[in-house]
Amino acid sequence: MARKPLISGNWKMNLNHFEAIQLVQKLTYALTKDDIDAVDVSIHPPFTDLRSVQTVLEADKVPISLGAQNCHWEDKGAFTGEISASMLQKLNVSYVICGHSERRQMFGETNEQVNKKVKTIIKTEMTPIMACGETLEQREAGEMAAHIVAQITEGLAGVKAEHVAAMVIAYEPIWAIGTGVTATAGDAQEVCKLVRDTVADLYNQGTADAVRIQYGGSVKPSSAPELMSQPDIDGALIGGAALSAEDFAGCIQYRLGQ
Ligand code: 13P
Repeated sequence: MARKPLISGNWKMNLNHFEAIQLVQKLTYALTKDDIDAVDVSIHPPFTDLRSVQTVLEADKVPISLGAQNCHWEDKGAFTGEISASMLQKLNVSYVICGHSERRQMFGETNEQVNKKVKTIIKTEMTPIMACGETLEQREAGEMAAHIVAQITEGLAGVKAEHVAAMVIAYEPIWAIGTGVTATAGDAQEVCKLVRDTVADLYNQGTADAVRIQYGGSVKPSSAPELMSQPDIDGALIGGAALSAEDFAGCIQYRLGQ
């Protein structure tokens, strides 16, 4: 089954709204119509940049989807500092990352909370990018597979097959995030296949064949072509390299290097 690749830029806590507008403008110049036709692209700026980035994308009719990095599962209420899915949807946000390892590790997010977020994002008619990934200690202790299967199983609990088929799962080994160490294409493929097989076990093969699986962790223009040629890798979730228009465009243009 042909799955359209999705290349996503997770800006993390970088760039104020002035800098964000500049980056989007540079990115627009760096990309051709062919690039955008072949690959879905999303950018995930900090919350404070979303309105500015939305305005630029819509005014210039740039076919890049707006994304967010997180949301709360409640619609509104006394949750100081949080942002609801419906607030994001009003800004025409299409994709919301949930369960990023930085949120799990630094802010104590659990699989149960990630599951609530996945359901809320779907209910609000946006697409979740649910992240999973193991630490180096877990990998070295032979616990990687059990950890990934648990994150997928608990993260998707109670989510209908048709919604899983339309969502995105990102495999990001924690040891490869921001370290300059990219997993080998073979390692990344192995775990992305494990994610797909887990979805097949939990649902059915059709759902597993439809879900898009991204790899994330030090992806660069030089590593993107080989990663993207793997059968179970349908895209990339990119941190550092997404902060440079040239490097992010280089990743989106991975086909040139294949
Ligand atoms: P880097 O590309 O900087 O390693 O970040 C990956 C990531 O965490 C994307 O969500």
